[in-house]
Amino acid sequence: MTIILAIETSCDETAAAVIQNGDTILANVVATQMASHARFGGVVPEVASRHHVEAVTAVVEEAMEQANVGFADLTAVAVTEGPGLVGALLVGIHTAKAIAFAHQLPLIGVHHIAGHIYANQLVQPMEFPLLALVASGGHTELILMEKDGQFEQIGQTRDDAVGEAYDKAARAMKLPYPGGPNVEKLSLEATEEIELPRSWLEKGSYDFSFSGLKSAVLNRIHNDQQKGIETNVAALAKGFQESVVDVLVTRTVAAYEQYEPKQVLVAGGVAANKGLRKGLEERLAQRVDLVIPPIHLCTDNAAMIGACAHQMWMNGAKGQLNMNGRPGMPLTSFS
Ligand code: KG4
Ligand code: ZN
Repeated sequence: MTIILAIETSCDETAAAVIQNGDTILANVVATQMASHARFGGVVPEVASRHHVEAVTAVVEEAMEQANVGFADLTAVAVTEGPGLVGALLVGIHTAKAIAFAHQLPLIGVHHIAGHIYANQLVQPMEFPLLALVASGGHTELILMEKDGQFEQIGQTRDDAVGEAYDKAARAMKLPYPGGPNVEKLSLEATEEIELPRSWLEKGSYDFSFSGLKSAVLNRIHNDQQKGIETNVAALAKGFQESVVDVLVTRTVAAYEQYEPKQVLVAGGVAANKGLRKGLEERLAQRVDLVIPPIHLCTDNAAMIGACAHQMWMNGAKGQLNMNGRPGMPLTSFS
């Protein structure tokens, strides 16, 4: 049996969780800083680091208390090593290091996206080969896993990540941060749709591109302004939402058809999008075991870091007390 304390501070959530055997959540605490960043329309790295420093001790204590375990009960301490904002990552890493050092526990560094994928292990056992669609603020990727700990990236974004495109489009529409949920909410109020382009790239590619879509939103608002017309923002939000969902779902279905995995998983903050969830369910649920975690496990959390760390530990990961924050950490296999 393993009991792992996990810490995640790569962006704007200070999170700690205690995970048993990689699949059972004993505690999952998330302190969000969203309200602070909303004032600036996006995450301000320095503000994020300061909030993490203020919150991290209380968040870890609360997780340990909720889980009803002591440090002596822990198998290891896990922490997000990268990618993310370096100052933000370092707060979690230093906290985890201090705990690991004081209690003589191994320290396991987890890749944030591997964590998002392993969030699914908290929902139901992962079955291989599997295909994961990772859609977050920093990533848009299709990843194939032949077995535990093995990641093969078959597609990625060539420019903006999908969540980033949501956030930038939202800012242009004067919607508050974070953009994704607000664009989605507004799109549901639309009675019309402003059709926006889809960028399909070359045939056979599983890559994505969202910067053209973002520009289309900016151009529309700009052109309307010049003509003195008030933009129908709800219709624009709907057009944006439809374009993103169409591209993500179509690409995922095509990858499923080529690779025929046993499972298709969805991971990352954008997986909270109801349109995306519905689109994938309609096109894939009848054909394959489709796993879409509940929303609190799609957005950033530490439970997913604990779930991944368990598997790394089972695969023989060694503790590493000399860890540093790796803002551009690549996703590499651990088995
Ligand atoms: O995974 P996440 O919490 O943090 C990163 O690792 O980036 O993802 C955050 C991203 C933000 O860009 C946010 O706008 C987007 O996920 N997001 C959504 C929704 N909820 C969050 N995008 C579209 N629809 C949503 N409902
Ligand atoms: Zn994330």
